[in-house]
Amino acid sequence: MVISGKELSARLKSEMAAEVAGFPEKYGRVPHLVVILVGDDPASVSYVTGKAKASQTVGIKNTTIRKPDSISEDELLGLIRQLNDDEEVDGILVQLPLPAHISESKVIETIDKSKDVDGFHPLNVAALWQKQPCTLPCTPKGIIRMLKAAGVEIKGRRAVVIGRSNIVGLPVAKLLLDENATVTIAHSKTKDLPSLTRQAEILVVAIGRPKFVTGDMVSEGAVVIDVGVNRDPETGKLCGDVDFAAIEPKASVITPVPGGVGPMTICCLMENTIECFLKRHGYSEICAE
Ligand code: GUN
Repeated sequence: MVISGKELSARLKSEMAAEVAGFPEKYGRVPHLVVILVGDDPASVSYVTGKAKASQTVGIKNTTIRKPDSISEDELLGLIRQLNDDEEVDGILVQLPLPAHISESKVIETIDKSKDVDGFHPLNVAALWQKQPCTLPCTPKGIIRMLKAAGVEIKGRRAVVIGRSNIVGLPVAKLLLDENATVTIAHSKTKDLPSLTRQAEILVVAIGRPKFVTGDMVSEGAVVIDVGVNRDPETGKLCGDVDFAAIEPKASVITPVPGGVGPMTICCLMENTIECFLKRHGYSEICAE
């Protein structure tokens, strides 16, 4: 079964749109997401455009602020502080990566925790690892959503996550653990990776290398979640970290690239923006679930 993140996210976005449509009457306005893009990297431009389009679908106000690569760290931090103080802004997202002269960690720490729709702020990360109410990072949240929607049992399964980034690998491993999977975190330097991945009942790959996972690395019936977004060096087309053609016949469930995890990430960003908005309007119990 190929899971369509596109279809699931379209359904969830239309449910959110119905909810947001009632906000002006209830709260006097709709949620407001501000996205900051520094520079003009084509992949980042495309991600930011996708976020603006999804906002429009859901009925969320989106302001995309574009700044040149030459912006100083101080100026960017100043802009974030201004948005932190703006009562009419619910979510702030600074698209990563940033130019080398700007500290990503300083940027992430400067965004007010209550407006951190990415779930990257150290206080959000700490809350996640301490099982406290928090904003969940969008890609890991979207992956768990997809697994549940596809009827995949997570509890008691052996999961292997390839990749240990703060954005995907580490938090997705934590969320799988919270669902009572037994989780191993592997990476590009893991010795004899194929013998480990063959034991996986759920395999999540977030390493950023085209076709890194080959057919011999996956067991019959495995659930395979491909988080990679790469260019195929031969065809120039978008492809994942997994050799889809070789693995799709073996896997019980697999996510395609494009159209799998990517749309779910954006969908969860919309959900996080709504959660931050509702929290600002006194609905803390929704986020404490
Ligand atoms: N760059 C790639 N993915 C992401 C993301 O989820 N959030 C931000 N802010 N930047 C990214």
